[in-house]
Amino acid sequence: MADMKNTVPQEVEGKVALVTGAASGIGKAIASLLHARGAKVMAEDMNPAVEELARAGLVPLVADITEDGAAERAVALAIERFGRLDILVNNAGIIINKPVVEMTRQDWERIQAVNATAAFLHCREAVKAMMPNRSGAIVNIASYAAYFAFPTIAAYAASKGALAQLTRTLALEAIPHGIRVNAVGVGDVVTNILNEVVEDGPAFLAQHGQAAPIGRAARPEEIAEVVAFLASERASFMVGSVVMADGGMTVTAG
Ligand SMILES: NC(=O)c1ccc[n+]([C@@H]2O[C@H](COP(=O)([O-])OP(=O)(O)OC[C@H]3O[C@@H](n4cnc5c(N)ncnc54)[C@H](O)[C@@H]3O)[C@@H](O)[C@H]2O)c1
Repeated sequence: MADMKNTVPQEVEGKVALVTGAASGIGKAIASLLHARGAKVMAEDMNPAVEELARAGLVPLVADITEDGAAERAVALAIERFGRLDILVNNAGIIINKPVVEMTRQDWERIQAVNATAAFLHCREAVKAMMPNRSGAIVNIASYAAYFAFPTIAAYAASKGALAQLTRTLALEAIPHGIRVNAVGVGDVVTNILNEVVEDGPAFLAQHGQAAPIGRAARPEEIAEVVAFLASERASFMVGSVVMADGGMTVTAG
């Protein structure tokens, strides 16, 4: 195990990471932080804005993670460009706010396709690539919605519940190969995720976050810190955890 003293600034030095949903919000902060802490990063997003992140050691990949073969292509490209894969962060996610009685099958399936199925496929391909190295770390971005519910988020909550259980199950299968799988149960973070759903998404999230015991929503960088920790050897004993980073949202009785 690495010397633990003063390792944070280089905590992922020499590692190769693949981050999905890296064009915006939490994923952008994760890709930037892992890169700043020494990782080579493949930053995948369907939004071409991800190309703005390009710099030495940070390669953007414009791709829809739900397309057939997308996970295979992303993992292969990371290996082609950087020689190996050590870290996968399944961060890309979408939400829809609709009561169940108004939700179409297409609505439901789109949410599961991005938040759960594409994450599963990226996990599968990443673990296959990591197994020969007998090391690796996967961090899935779940939500407090994996545990708590609000009216109108059934599809999203179900997808994040699936992601949490994928995390726990895969963790058991992967740890004999030296690969740790964990997740972060994210609370309200000021990002663009609600932009298609409400008038002013970031303002809505900032306001909604005030209901958490901490009294505010998070900045994306605060979630990226947890991800960087879980991805690093500092988290060497963490296997199958869903770490809550939610300002206390899931521990309060209201
Ligand atoms: N913001 C919050 O309050 C909050 C709370 C809990 C969990 N989360 C989770 O955090 C993660 C990141 O969300 P965010 O808040 O940063 O949102 P965001 O909308 O700012 O960023 C999400 C990114 O994912 C990308 N993406 C979506 N579908 C994709 C696809 N099919 N292929 C490739 N890229 C795709 C988008 O283009 C976008 O760049 C999501 O999984 C979300 O569910 C966010």
